[in-house]
Amino acid sequence: MDMFVVRGGQRLEGRVSVSGAKNAALPIMAAALAAEGPTVLYGVPDLVDVQTLGELLTALGMTIARRADGGLQMEVVDQRPCVAEYDLVRRMRASICVLGPLLARRKSACVSLPGGCNIGDRPVDLHLKGLAALGADLRVESGYIFASAARLKGAAIYLGGPFGSTVTGTCNVMMAAALAEGVTTIEAAACEPEVVDLGEFMNKMGARISGLGTPFLRIEGVAALHGAEHEIIPDRIEAATLLMAAAMTGGRVQVDNVRCGHLTAVLEKLREIGVRLTPVGSGLAVDVPHALNAADCIMLPYPGLPTDIQAQFMALLAAAPGISIVTDKVFPDRFMHAAELVRMGARIRREGPSAIISGVAGLSGASVMASDLRASAALVLAALAARGDSVIRRIYHLDRGYHRLEAKLNSLGARISRVQDAPQNMPASLAPQTCGRRGAGGAAEHDLRGPNWGRVRETSADRLFDAAE
Ligand code: EPZ
Repeated sequence: MDMFVVRGGQRLEGRVSVSGAKNAALPIMAAALAAEGPTVLYGVPDLVDVQTLGELLTALGMTIARRADGGLQMEVVDQRPCVAEYDLVRRMRASICVLGPLLARRKSACVSLPGGCNIGDRPVDLHLKGLAALGADLRVESGYIFASAARLKGAAIYLGGPFGSTVTGTCNVMMAAALAEGVTTIEAAACEPEVVDLGEFMNKMGARISGLGTPFLRIEGVAALHGAEHEIIPDRIEAATLLMAAAMTGGRVQVDNVRCGHLTAVLEKLREIGVRLTPVGSGLAVDVPHALNAADCIMLPYPGLPTDIQAQFMALLAAAPGISIVTDKVFPDRFMHAAELVRMGARIRREGPSAIISGVAGLSGASVMASDLRASAALVLAALAARGDSVIRRIYHLDRGYHRLEAKLNSLGARISRVQDAPQNMPASLAPQTCGRRGAGGAAEHDLRGPNWGRVRETSADRLFDAAE
C-alpha cells in the first residue's frame, strides 16, 4: 500500500491542465451498454474507477480498448451476461449505473447493492422508484437488485429525495427511459454538468432527451440506440482542487481546460475568500494578493456549491483568519477529514451537518489517513500548505478520482513522494521520538483549548469502509 510524503511550504507556480470528468465518464461508459455498434469516448481520464468500471463492462459482454489517439473504443459483443458482482460494485458504487442500460436493452439485470461508504448513507431507493415507474419488476435479495421488464413504458416520475435529487439515479432512469415505449418526464432531475454530458452523449446515440440542465427532463423513447463519438467534459472538481492548491500555497498558477460555467458558485465563493481568479486562455490564472477571509459554505445540489469540494474548502478555510462554517446538505456526515485536519493543527468543531472552523495562523505537518476520495484531496492540499513534513496514508482513495495528482502538483513545484507505507519511509521529523520536541521538523504546537475544538465526530463508531464512494 502506498503513502504520500509531502514537504509543505512550497509555493506552486506554473501551468497545469484539468483532465476529463470522472463523474461524466462513468455513466457515459455505462450508457454504451445500450448501444448497437461501437462507441468512442475522448478525454476519459485514466483512473482506478474507470479501470474498475471497465472490468465490470467487460464482464457484461463489452470489448474496451484504448486507441492510439487516446480514445476509448467500446462495443457490446455479447448480451448474455447480466450480473454485476458485489466484488466489483463494492469497489466503485457508480457501477449502479449499469442497471438502467441493462434493463433497457437486455430486459434483465442483477446488480449488487453498493454497500457501506465513508461519506454517509448511500441509498438507491430513488433509482428503484424511477425504474419501477417505468414498469420494471424489481426485488432486492441477498444484497442484489433483481430487475426485469418485458417492455419499459414511459411514465411521469418525481425523483426528489430528502437531500435533493440524485445524480446517478437521474442517469439510471434517463438511460432506461431512452428505450422505453412512449414519453417519460422526470421532475426533480439532477442538473449537474455530468448528467447533462450523459444526456448529450445519449442524444448523439439517437435518444430524444430535452430539458438537460434543468430539473424537468423529457425523454421520448426510441426503438434503438447506436454507438457515437463523444468528448468528456473537463472535471470541475479537479479544477477546483487545483485552484485551491495554488491558493493555499500562496502561489501563482494557470489552470487550463476549465469550464467556468460549471463552477459559478465555487468561483464566487473563492473570490469571497480572497482568491484572485483571472480568465486566461481556456482556463484561469489564480493567486492570493492578500490574506484569506473566513466564509460560510453550504454544500447543495447543482448549481450550488458541490459536496465533492466540501473537504477542500474546509482545508482552505482552516488557515483563513476568523470563524467559518461549512455545512453539507447533501452528505451531512461527510466530515471524516475534519479529524485529520485537526491533527495538522486546524481548529474544527462539529455541530450536526456543520463544521465550525476557527482559522489558525498556519497548519503543521503530521501523519494523517485518507478516508475517502475527496478527503484525500483535502489532506494533500493541507499538507502542501503546512509547515514541515506530512505523511498521508491510504492514498488509494485518491487514485480513484485523480490521475497521478502528485505529478501535476510536483510539476508546479510541490514536493510529494509516493512511497510504500513502511516505517523506514517515515520522515524523521514525524517519527514519534522526534515529535515530542517543540518545533521538531517545523511542527508547531497548536492550542486546542477552548469550546471543544477538535470534537469532530458525531458518533463514536468510526465508519471505515474501504468501499469506494
Ligand atoms: C454522485 O453520487 C457523485 N458520484 C458523487 O461524487 C457526488 O458526491 C454525488 O453525486 C452528489 O453530487 C458519481 O457521480 C459517480 P446522489 P450519487 O444519488 O449519485 C441521497 C465523488 O467524490 N439519495 O446524487 O451516488 C443520498 O443519500 C463522488 O466523485 C437518496 O436518498 O449521489 C445523498 O444524500 C462521491 N436516495 C443525496 O441523495 C437515492 O436513491 C445525493 O446522492 C439516491 C440518493
